[in-house]
Order: sequence, then C-alpha cells, then structure tokens
Amino acid sequence: MVDLPAPMQAHMLQNMRGHLVVVDRLLQLLGAGELDEASDLAESELGMSSLDKHGASHIAPYYPEGMRQAGTELHHAASRFSRTAQEGDVPSAYRALQDITASCVACHAGYRVR
Ligand code: HEC
Repeated sequence: MVDLPAPMQAHMLQNMRGHLVVVDRLLQLLGAGELDEASDLAESELGMSSLDKHGASHIAPYYPEGMRQAGTELHHAASRFSRTAQEGDVPSAYRALQDITASCVACHAGYRVR
C-alpha cells in the first residue's frame, strides 16, 4: 500500500486510465496494420518521451523504489515497442506490446494506493 497525497493519487489514477486508452488504441492500430501510427502513439504517450507529460518527476519521489523501477520499465518497454513497430513486422510488434502490458501487470501485482 502506497500512501500518496490525495491530489497525487487522483492525478496518478487519471494517468492510469489514460494508459489503458492508449493500450486499447495500440491494439486497434496493430490490427489495422498501422504500425507507424502505433509507433508514434506509444512513444509520445507511454515512452520515455512521455515522462514530462505525466508529471513523472513530481510523482516519482512519492513512490517506493520498486514502484519507481516498475514505472521506468513501463516507459522503456513502450519505447522499445515504438522502435519495433517502426521496423514493420506485425508479430514482433504484438510481442513488444505484450512487454508493455506485462509491466502494467507487474506493478499492479505489487502495489496499491487505496
Ligand atoms: C509503476 C506502477 C504501475 C504501472 C507501471 C502501471 N500501473 Fe496502473 N495502477 C497502479 C496503481 C498503484 C494503481 C491503483 C491500484 C489500486 O490501489 O486500486 C493503478 C490503477 C490503474 C487503473 C485504475 C484507475 C482508476 O481510476 O481506478 C488502471 C485502468 C490502470 N492502472 C491501468 C494501467 C495500464 C494499462 C498500465 C500499463 C500501460 C498501468 N496501469 C501501469 C500502478 C501502476
């Protein structure tokens, strides 16, 4: 159980709901063979380029170390997905997408905020 100040918690959960929207959209794009769009979306919304957008530097100090690492793993997995999708092989892109969802699952298995 991680005790976050209420506004941080609300912000984090809002980010989380946004993450799920992105994963859903990535599945849709892969199914449609639109790998370039998937690559761009993953990098800008979940990848290493998204940290500022999510206020990561403000929230991360409140996270226990393991949770911070799990968050970093998500952003790395998303940037790896972005590069893989760019290469244009659909099965590889699906495998790389599963690395993203595995990082969601890993953090959820270890941490709660309420
Ligand atoms: C660094 C840890 C971490 C990562 C990585 C992570 N989550 Fe979460 N997520 C949480 C925590 C903690 C909660 C709150 C769970 C609770 O206390 O009920 C949460 C809650 C959620 C919720 C519920 C939001 C709400 O309003 O109740 C959704 C949806 C969600 N996460 C989606 C995702 C998706 C999709 C991913 C991967 C793309 C992801 N999360 C990655 C930690 C993480």
